[in-house]
Amino acid sequence: MADAQTATQAPVVTRREDYREPDWRVPEIALDFDLDPAATRVHATLQVERNGSHDAPLRLAGDGLLALVVRVDGVVAEDWTMDGDDLVVPLSGAAHTIETEVEIAPERNTQLMGLYASGGILCTQCEAEGFRRITFFPDRPDVLSKYKVKMTADKARFPVLLANGDPIAQGDLDGGKHWAEWHDPFPKPSYLFAIVAGDLVANRGSFMTMSGREVQLGIWVRLPDLPKTDHALHALKLSMAWDEKVYGREYDLDVFNIVAVDDFNFGAMENKGLNVFNSRYILADPDTATDYDYDAIAAVVAHEYFHNWSGNRITCRDWFQLSLKEGFTVFRDQSFSADQGSAAVKRIEDVRGLRASQFPEDAGPLAHPVRPDEYIEISNFYTATIYNKGAEVIRMMATILGPEKFRAATDLYFDRFDGTAATCEDFVQSMEQGGGVDLTQFRRWYSQAGTPRVSATLTQEGGRARLTLRQVVPPTPGQPVKEPMVLPLKVKLFGAVTGRALCDEQLVLLKDESHEILFENLPETPVLSINRGFSAPVVVETNRTAKDLAFLSAHDDDPFARYEAMQQLMLDTLVTSVANGTGDHQAVIDAVRNTLTDANLDRAFIAEAVLLPSDSFIGDQMTVVEPEAIFRAREALRQDLGKALATEWRAAYEGSLANRFEYSPAAKGARRLKTVALGYIAASGAADADGLAFDQFRGADNMTDRQGAMTTLVNGASPLREEALEAFYTRYQGNGLVLDKWFQTQALSSREDTLDRVERLAAHPDFTLSNPNRARSLIGAFSVNQRAFHDVSGRGYRFVADQLIALDKLNPQTAAKLLPPLGRWKRFDEGRAAKMRAELERIVATPELSKDMFEQASKSLD
Ligand code: PHE
Ligand code: ZN
Repeated sequence: MADAQTATQAPVVTRREDYREPDWRVPEIALDFDLDPAATRVHATLQVERNGSHDAPLRLAGDGLLALVVRVDGVVAEDWTMDGDDLVVPLSGAAHTIETEVEIAPERNTQLMGLYASGGILCTQCEAEGFRRITFFPDRPDVLSKYKVKMTADKARFPVLLANGDPIAQGDLDGGKHWAEWHDPFPKPSYLFAIVAGDLVANRGSFMTMSGREVQLGIWVRLPDLPKTDHALHALKLSMAWDEKVYGREYDLDVFNIVAVDDFNFGAMENKGLNVFNSRYILADPDTATDYDYDAIAAVVAHEYFHNWSGNRITCRDWFQLSLKEGFTVFRDQSFSADQGSAAVKRIEDVRGLRASQFPEDAGPLAHPVRPDEYIEISNFYTATIYNKGAEVIRMMATILGPEKFRAATDLYFDRFDGTAATCEDFVQSMEQGGGVDLTQFRRWYSQAGTPRVSATLTQEGGRARLTLRQVVPPTPGQPVKEPMVLPLKVKLFGAVTGRALCDEQLVLLKDESHEILFENLPETPVLSINRGFSAPVVVETNRTAKDLAFLSAHDDDPFARYEAMQQLMLDTLVTSVANGTGDHQAVIDAVRNTLTDANLDRAFIAEAVLLPSDSFIGDQMTVVEPEAIFRAREALRQDLGKALATEWRAAYEGSLANRFEYSPAAKGARRLKTVALGYIAASGAADADGLAFDQFRGADNMTDRQGAMTTLVNGASPLREEALEAFYTRYQGNGLVLDKWFQTQALSSREDTLDRVERLAAHPDFTLSNPNRARSLIGAFSVNQRAFHDVSGRGYRFVADQLIALDKLNPQTAAKLLPPLGRWKRFDEGRAAKMRAELERIVATPELSKDMFEQASKSLD
């Protein structure tokens, strides 16, 4: 296997500082595919040009390819050699025509990189280094080429043939075959190449761009899925309009196609003019998709569309610059989603996601900067740090510049770097010049890993108050000592008595290790509101009391800060309960009651604000995570909240019932609050709770309500839970995306027997490692279930390690992505830590381990 890596082999490390321009450019390439699942012939014709004066041969990357023939300027060449997987061709002149021919077997491609088969569809995935599994090529993002693509295939099996760019010609051949040719006029790196062949139908639409060009849109799926594509098509049109309005960016081709496939390693891929999607981010109808799915579909459709400018028109010079396109594009899709509904709730969800995935990454063995310095396998760097922390870094620059200057700066960036392969540094310089600011020190956000910690102490002296801020950036692997960062903190003071604002919101730029701010002429005792809107992705510790936090949770005028105050109050309470074995829940109960009964708040916000922090996030606050104690403390608080506010939960539940399904922000908020209330009613132990949940389950006209009720039952002790699970399974047999939910809900259950059940589910006939969504729905979900995964026996660790070792043989990328929870052993007691390490060691010692897994597991052992 091409990327097999045993522990004894020295891993090849790629370093950012070693970047050199390519020796050869390839301004044009023509590809001719004779498509067949078992044996596809790929004939490539490359126009190559020597870049500068050197005598280096042409080196074309391959991965598992065998050159059947190599021609130079039309003549069969004999002097080429293989260096490992690479094809090396000595060339004498400044420009040549190179032809190669290879044969590949898409149906045997289980890695889902390169050309592969998914449910009868042939499709490609090339980012980051999949193109070299299709043909020999300088497979690096700074080699930009114009592509001409011809595909020939059996017409009955593959009636639709798609590629990047515009369709040029097509025709029929003898023997039931047909062909199609597509040209992409925009030079692009090989990772944006795509073709698709299959028995597909399109939901078609069109979009008139701001300069008056009509673009033909198509969402391509298999016929039975066609009714589930309207939401994605609508989201695409909204995205196209949004990018024109907010960034002045217009689409540039006459067609834009999206194809949905069931087997996909990530969410979706922004191939030029031909996005390929994991079907879970396209297919939706009320019966099978939750509100969360609907929102995620719109966000991912927007994300991939926005890449057309932030990623495709301007691409990355090398993979160390990955956050240039990903951080910026996540920021853009987050802003888009915020504009579609409640911006406050969107911000809360994004911060919750950041804390659940990026903060732990930044605090663990796999911590790396937003612009990494080295990697073994680039696929391992499609991380929450590159994507989500990267987006926070862009957001901070947008905050520092303000909206007008930020727009001027992005205009400058798009104008200056259009058509090039750029760097993070290019982006920051555009921000500086377009915004008229100095970001010298701010650049540390790209080079230093670790989540900064800020302590904020407010002390009052008569009518004055002094705010003392201090920052510490913790050490991370390879970076023991850190320099202070630029932290944009939005700050405001409120009067503890009247609740009035005592000053305007201020943007404090904390640049030094410590900093003081004086507030004068304060008419009353101030309460501190800080990091409003989560203006900086940091951990803030304050000297605020439970009373201050309760006050802010009711009176702060920034909705995020209100949410945050409630979370902090809950966290402080829970951390104390874990330490003492028991806790005083009254302050939380009162604050939750206030929020729940506040008629001025919308339901979506209430539902977020009254949710307790997750087990894992509570664990993140502790020096040594105690999964069982955390679980007990959280359950006790849930029960007390359920009982003390029984009337309020009932009112919230009943006030949120709807007559029929509607997809609108208000209806979504009602559904969310309804199921959150149901959870508390169940936690209270109310006699009718299971019946209520089962009625919701049975009567639901949408998946949000149905899955919400099933989750409540699956966490509980009622026999109705088996009935619900069985009914759900029977109803959705054959619908892979919904069966994923069935597996996932059970893997996330808070019940004591979850580990046993998950082990049984791994042997279920519908479980398979070859579909990444299915693997993630069981293994991925289970390993973030803190209580079950960290079962003191260590069986949870063994189970996950066994599965990952098996998955690595099929699909190293997806396996390696699921490893990080096993690597967090330093956060646990010695007994658990030893068991986790033993599994990591077993993984590292596995023969023919992929380099993907080797990198993740060996780094996690350090
Ligand atoms: N570039 C894709 C995105 O973020 C993610 C991706 C990476 C997909 C690698 C497949 C493979 O939009
Ligand atoms: Zn992306």
